Amino acid sequence: MASSSSSSFSAAAILAFAVVLGVFTGGSSANLSTSFYSKTCPMVFTTVKSAVRSAISQESRLGASLLRLHFHDCFVNGCDGSVLLDDTSSFTGEKTAGPNNRSIRGFKVVDDIKSKVEKVCPGVVSCADILAIASCDSVVILGGPSWDVKLGRRDAKTASFSAANNTGFLPSPFSSLSTLISGFQVKGLSTTDMVALSGAHTIGLAQCRTIRSRIYNDTNIDRSFAKLRQSKCPRNTGGRKNLAPLDLQTPTAFDNKYFQNLINKKGLLHSDQELYNGGSTDSLVRTYSNDAKTFYDDFVAAMIKMGDIEPLTGSSGEIRKNCRRPN
Ligand code: HEM
Ligand SMILES: *[C@@H]1O[C@H](CO)[C@@H](O)[C@H](O)[C@H]1NC(C)=O
Ligand SMILES: *[C@@H]1O[C@H](CO)[C@@H](O)[C@H](O)[C@H]1NC(C)=O
Ligand SMILES: *[C@@H]1O[C@H](CO)[C@@H](O)[C@H](O)[C@H]1NC(C)=O
Ligand SMILES: *[C@@H]1O[C@H](CO)[C@@H](O)[C@H](O)[C@H]1NC(C)=O
Repeated sequence: MASSSSSSFSAAAILAFAVVLGVFTGGSSANLSTSFYSKTCPMVFTTVKSAVRSAISQESRLGASLLRLHFHDCFVNGCDGSVLLDDTSSFTGEKTAGPNNRSIRGFKVVDDIKSKVEKVCPGVVSCADILAIASCDSVVILGGPSWDVKLGRRDAKTASFSAANNTGFLPSPFSSLSTLISGFQVKGLSTTDMVALSGAHTIGLAQCRTIRSRIYNDTNIDRSFAKLRQSKCPRNTGGRKNLAPLDLQTPTAFDNKYFQNLINKKGLLHSDQELYNGGSTDSLVRTYSNDAKTFYDDFVAAMIKMGDIEPLTGSSGEIRKNCRRPN
């Protein structure tokens, strides 16, 4: 009796320990640290920030584009800089996969940041970490919250077109709420994380081809808002690349207006409006729409969790010299 109960106790203890370690949460076991470059590249923060600031001062959308690159990096085989790799003779990269093709952008800014960082600390800072730092800087520069970015990711030597093209990895704007929830769950992110991270759509733009079915066919949309968007996005053909702001009120400010739009049935993407459509996330959207501080707190916590998804650390991967290609 005693031995069987003690062995079932230790099995339970091991299980609990594994859960604490994050073995089952797909990412919180990441071994990253906010002080990773404190001895090897203390200049990294000021260097990245001034490059991001100069990019945003030329085109404010670039802040949004950098934030989205970090998300698309982390959701495809972890935050390993793979999204930045150009195609090579040995692999097709992620840039032309469905959710990315003709949509993700900001690569020249990343090159510029990387070359400035290489000047102050050659061969030290990974491209994956640059995306994480630049995302935080973008949010701050556009008026949002700040946080201590965890660092120490290394760069992948390869990229996966097929993983990036897999609709189960990067969420589709045509998804239902339950698909959005399960897609984030697979990455170790909760429903709260998913809703808070969707608040990134308080900045940036989307193409006509992405919103056509929403503005012509969805019924949970404000009619005057739909008409406004239809004026630059014809029903049948043409205008595929015409752009519309994800947040119609303050498209270049990181604030909680995105959530107010959802309450008013003015979400731009079908997936945005799914978060406030009579389902389980309505109350959280209402909270964020009234309370920017709670949105910011949850957004920061979720960004840190997202940045922890399956990084390469220790001696895995490499520190790329050029973010577009393996060394
Ligand atoms: C919840 C699931 C999500 C879906 C379905 C989704 C989908 C999309 C789509 C379709 C676009 C516009 C693409 C185009 O038309 O070219 C977009 C833009 C954007 N997304 Fe998301 N997204 C999601 C979550 C996120 C997350 C978690 C972040 C970051 C934390 C993010 C950040 C952005 C930003 C900043 C833009 C604008 C980019 C720019 O203007 O260059 N999104 N998203
Ligand atoms: C990417 O988009 C371009 C232009 O629409 C298209 O010609 C190309 O086939 C697409 N690439 C892939 C891999 O689908
Ligand atoms: C990428 O995914 C889309 C949508 O699932 C699919 O139609 C297309 O064939 C895929 N492309 C390749 C080259 O696998
Ligand atoms: C709207 O829905 C109809 C019927 O399902 C479909 O034939 C049409 O292509 C859709 N239009 C757009 C713009 O998505
Ligand atoms: C985790 O980080 C510490 C401190 O940087 C390092 O000594 C250790 O080797 C790392 N472990 C792994 C598995 O990367």
